[in-house]
Amino acid sequence: MFHSIIAGSGHFVPEKVVTNEDLAKLMDTSDEWITERTGIKERRYFDPEKDTVANMAARASKMALERAGMKADEIDFIVFATIFPDYFFPGSGVLLQRELGLHSIPAMDIRNACSGFIYAISVADQYIKTGMYKNVLVIGAEIQSSVLTFDTAHRNMTVIFADGAGAMILKASDLTSKGILTTHIHSDGRYAELLYLKDPGSSRKVRLSKDIVDNESFKGYMDGREVFKHAVVRFPEVIQEALDAADLTIEDIDLLIPHQANLRINQFVQKRLGLADDKIYNNIMRYGNTTAASIPICFSEATGEGRINENDIICLAAFGSGFTWASALIRM
Ligand code: UT7
Repeated sequence: MFHSIIAGSGHFVPEKVVTNEDLAKLMDTSDEWITERTGIKERRYFDPEKDTVANMAARASKMALERAGMKADEIDFIVFATIFPDYFFPGSGVLLQRELGLHSIPAMDIRNACSGFIYAISVADQYIKTGMYKNVLVIGAEIQSSVLTFDTAHRNMTVIFADGAGAMILKASDLTSKGILTTHIHSDGRYAELLYLKDPGSSRKVRLSKDIVDNESFKGYMDGREVFKHAVVRFPEVIQEALDAADLTIEDIDLLIPHQANLRINQFVQKRLGLADDKIYNNIMRYGNTTAASIPICFSEATGEGRINENDIICLAAFGSGFTWASALIRM
């Protein structure tokens, strides 16, 4: 049986920086409120003239390929996690395939929101283990700023969400001591409507109606407090599940890379697990919440900063819409 090792990672964030002060000019909020409640100081928004979900993913992929010392045509499978694809259909996976000049390899889209990247890794890992594919490009990429509303009524979501892309290349290896040790994915659809974007949904008589516009159901909805309450329970739970499966303990973790939804959630999890400050990686201050892109952006940045070294045990963990939650343990 093969193992999936991490051959390379990369990321791309759009140029446009939007600070808390910029948002405070458009709605009743403040740098102080946003910093205290979320940890975010600034975020990136795409440029509609040049950025797409697929081309941001392509730029992240090129960085990952370069770091892996690989050519695009060595990739034999793309798994693309996004909840905001460029088109309603087809998914952004095929658009990325086109951007990379690849033809006929499979491209699959995953729609599991903030847990999407770990879901995508778990899918890629299964295909590698069975020997079906050798070099899998796994993506998390989102353009969310175009769905945000810049007024006080929508401020709870608007100050959090942002744009970006991250990539990771998983490579088949027969080194059993390295690579993805275990992945764990969960969901509980009873809570689907606590964080969702309802319209334009398919189960409507008329997909785009005046009602949808009047009710603003084409804008997202989030019950932030409820999401928060579940997140702080599921994060430690799913991390422990992964450690148990790999026969490891919290002390074995060299770096925890949690989804970047709210710094307060991550600090709570860090405290609960008793992790020192240098054992957790956060960059939400600079990028906000980029949903499926947050974990691969962190992984790529942490790699660039020398925070991920040979033999390190890296733990990835996420919680978000669905609800869905997930974890993965990797030995580098
Ligand atoms: O990635 C997907 C998963 N998502 C998450 O994990 C998000 C989890 N939840 C959160 O991060 C937090 O719930 C938020 C940051 C979204 C909100 O923080 P909170 O402390 O839970 O605030 P709240 O929604 O309970 O609102 C508290 C007060 C309200 O005012 P009143 O009713 O007490 O007068 C809100 O209207 O804060 C107000 N508020 C704001 N004030 C200034 C909400 N958003 C803002 C804002 N600026 N941006």
